[in-house]
Amino acid sequence: MAFPPAFLEELRRRVPVSRLVATRVKLTKKGREFSGLCPFHSEKSPSFFVNDDKNLFKCFGCGKSGDQITFAMEAQGLTFPEAVAEIASIAGLEVPHDRPPDPVATKRRKGAEAALEATCLFFEAQLAATAGADARGYLSRRGLTAEDVGRFRLGWAPDSRSALKAHLAKQDIPEDASLEAGVLKRGEDGAVFDFFRGRVIFPIFDRRGRPVAFGGRVLGDGQPKYLNSADGPLFHKGQTLYALHIAREAAARKQPVIVAEGYMDVIALHKAGFTGAVAPLGTALTDDQLEELWRLTAEPVLCLDGDAAGQRAAAKAAERALPKVGPGRSLRFLVLPGGQDPDEVLRSGGARAFTELMGSAVPLVDHLWRAETTSHRIDTPEARAALQARLRDLARSIADPATRELYEAEFRTRLATLLGDAAPRARGRFGERPPAPRQGQWVRERPDLREVMRRRAALTEGAWRKVGLPTARSSIDDRVLLLLLCRFPALIDLRREELALISFADPTLDQVRDALVGLEVEPDTAPEALVERLADLGVSADCVTQWRITPAFRASFDTLDEARALERVDHMLAAMTLAHLRADMDEARALFEATEDQSAWNRFLELQALHAAGVDVGDPHDP
Ligand code: UTP
Ligand code: MN
Repeated sequence: MAFPPAFLEELRRRVPVSRLVATRVKLTKKGREFSGLCPFHSEKSPSFFVNDDKNLFKCFGCGKSGDQITFAMEAQGLTFPEAVAEIASIAGLEVPHDRPPDPVATKRRKGAEAALEATCLFFEAQLAATAGADARGYLSRRGLTAEDVGRFRLGWAPDSRSALKAHLAKQDIPEDASLEAGVLKRGEDGAVFDFFRGRVIFPIFDRRGRPVAFGGRVLGDGQPKYLNSADGPLFHKGQTLYALHIAREAAARKQPVIVAEGYMDVIALHKAGFTGAVAPLGTALTDDQLEELWRLTAEPVLCLDGDAAGQRAAAKAAERALPKVGPGRSLRFLVLPGGQDPDEVLRSGGARAFTELMGSAVPLVDHLWRAETTSHRIDTPEARAALQARLRDLARSIADPATRELYEAEFRTRLATLLGDAAPRARGRFGERPPAPRQGQWVRERPDLREVMRRRAALTEGAWRKVGLPTARSSIDDRVLLLLLCRFPALIDLRREELALISFADPTLDQVRDALVGLEVEPDTAPEALVERLADLGVSADCVTQWRITPAFRASFDTLDEARALERVDHMLAAMTLAHLRADMDEARALFEATEDQSAWNRFLELQALHAAGVDVGDPHDP
């Protein structure tokens, strides 16, 4: 009657005790534990506790305790196999046939495990050896130390069809085991050869930290960039998260759980202290991976590159997660500015810049709202109805009834504000002069916003990919903008009014912006001369020119021409202008609510129309 231990472990992993118990007991979350009224004896105050980390329930009143299977047996009066079958059906798993563990299968698994470990050691040794010199150089240029290499067991697969094969044979690892492990491959002609050749190796570990697969990266720019082990008996890509074995412990210590896109991003994040970072293996997040993340934390942060692919990945993840969200199960979204990935952000701005960005991660509800309202037009009743329908459908895909209702209500409120239904019907006070607007408050001279937005619409797809959508204002966007202006002073003249309109949160940066706008520049002013003239005005541009930027970023700067630079500037200006516009709308509305002054309301309506016109242009990410 033995079930394979791996199967039982999988059951327990998929159906946390709290989830099973919650079908019969109303649980309240307290820290990492849940409590409720014991289902096994009658009581008025809760002495029944559930701890998912320990995989345990326990009643301090009647003393009953155990895991998921015990709970199903006790609560439903099932036998052990019945309880297993019950939980398996919740988990969506097939119960393995009722027979003793298959010695042949066990032997095969053990063989593949040995082959994987031996291969991992071989690649590590190759990286350390003379053969690995180029790879070591590459990794160190990417900022990795020997310690990082050791922690992630990085390696080098020599450019040979037989080096690994010969090594494994010498270690008495049967060829079948190595084939099963996916490290050797049989070609069409029947010949067996090394699968990874001439690649930097990123071993992929299971939740216990044993290598189960490998990702191999070319040195430099070849294609495909990464070659990954195929799925096999020990490796299921869709159920694995890179660095999970480390992130599990970090999550238990309350570190944020961050989902990045790539191996290098995860390693860079861990280096910077974000050891709760994981990555899927080059595919969209699967249901299994989401469940795994929710076992670690209630709100993993999806950190996606600010490029079009990153946006698509975010949309997919949101759609996947929605049906399953509820109390203690949601997501946050962090879109990185300037089309950067976490690795680049960390290399240019360090852990501080990333921490700052983490603060701008938005909850799922905001992410959905933003994605829907910025990607479609809303200038006709039909378009507004379509937006309303899309938001309603999104909310309705949530299975948890309370959460679904709250999402519906939230979207209704936001729609009312956006579409103006909630506009208070003001009683005009005839004969009364409106109060003079407070100086510098919401009345600000601005250039033709429609023009700003039109330029935004005209941007090429390439400019968007490079710049990304700086939805969350950050000092990195601000610095990129200033760097562009210092490099191409002619742009200052072209966009002086727009530059005067925006303001930066960081006063040091804002001072530089202000001074640049005030300068009379000849189109061919050299950047150095520009910086000197700022210095003459008593403004140091060090915060911009001394900014540590990555070599890749620097290279992209060096090859930039003025037309492309202008596109980037226009894009950033449009995004910043929209953000300012929203702030001004809030102010105008607040002023109206406080004073009932009709001119404030008119101002609000005017700003709202401008905002709609800007949003209307649509999101070029969306083809
Ligand atoms: P990225 O191209 O963002 O990888 O792809 P990266 O880790 O940032 O790589 P560097 O910085 O250029 O070295 C994200 C992930 O997608 C998968 C890998 O898992 C990668 O880490 N991928 C990417 C592949 O599997 N194959 C590919 O050809 C490219
Ligand atoms: Mn990268």
